[in-house]
Amino acid sequence: MDFTDLRASARAAMDELAFAYYQATAGPPEQADRDAEAWQRFDLIPRVLRGTGAPDTSVRLDERAHRGGATLRTPVVVAASAGHGMAHPDGEIATGLGAGDAGALMVYSNSATVEVGAFGAAVSGPWWAQVYLQQDRGRSNDYLDRAVAAGAGAIVLTVDLGGPAGSASFRRSVQSRLTAVPGNFPGLSWQQMSATYVAALTLDDVTSVVEHCGIPVHVKGILHPADAARVIGAGASGIIVSNHGRRQVEGVLPTADALPAVLDAVAGRVPVMVDGGVRSGIDVLRALALGAVTVGVGRPVLWGLAASGRDGVAGVLSGLTAELVQAMAAAGAATPADLDRSMIRRR
Ligand code: LAC
Repeated sequence: MDFTDLRASARAAMDELAFAYYQATAGPPEQADRDAEAWQRFDLIPRVLRGTGAPDTSVRLDERAHRGGATLRTPVVVAASAGHGMAHPDGEIATGLGAGDAGALMVYSNSATVEVGAFGAAVSGPWWAQVYLQQDRGRSNDYLDRAVAAGAGAIVLTVDLGGPAGSASFRRSVQSRLTAVPGNFPGLSWQQMSATYVAALTLDDVTSVVEHCGIPVHVKGILHPADAARVIGAGASGIIVSNHGRRQVEGVLPTADALPAVLDAVAGRVPVMVDGGVRSGIDVLRALALGAVTVGVGRPVLWGLAASGRDGVAGVLSGLTAELVQAMAAAGAATPADLDRSMIRRR
């Protein structure tokens, strides 16, 4: 897929400040594409003579990973991202319906412009609820209770909030001027909501969310293998290898390069998702061959949302899935389970 035109359409459709917010990364602009570039360094080694018919891209999440279990039509997932109302008037509902059209899981952000109960009532596909713990844990727990009641299949606890998105100039020039209205925290401005998030979490926070929610909790923002092992010990049901769209730490390791060591440390105990710089079905196949179960896509979904709402989201997800089908057929993989480390090599 060529996202150049879609990104241009999104830029034209959006408020300039909101588009700048979505595109922002920590560090200089020339580093912004390091995650996408890192996927390109992985070469595929196709298998042949395996009688591969029409590939099946479906993925089964068992009840340990998703309340009651779920079968996804595609491993491509809508990665958590904030404030969809800045891209389209229907906000997260349009994104969720588009994800459902494509048979994709959506990670709904607690920094959404549509309240989680309204979101859950409007969408029919599988979704997880992302949470930032706040200084006022009561407010966080109220949101978590609403998310569980709304039908979230799991919770995503984001733990890589080391520093506000981007540089100080980004905060001053962009984030502090956003006028989006938080859907989950009435009475708070966007700035007040963002300021309540706690950066310095501990393993006890993971355990407390697991115990409070009673549904699977996936921990997002893991790059170091030791941290993957630690959060599993604290009760995590899944790991999301992510560097937050390169928005938190300048010079951070690309997620494609972090993924193998984290997978080795997890050793199959829980499913691992990866996001960051995924821009084609080949990139999705690369992540699956390394051992990820699902693959999160952020900015391209936002571009599709801004350009064409629900249909734009479905188009991005279905387009990446169609590319994945072609890549699996070429690689000799009938299902994602047919992909493994022997079929990929980092240059
Ligand atoms: C961001 C925060 C809200 O990356 O997750 O903008």
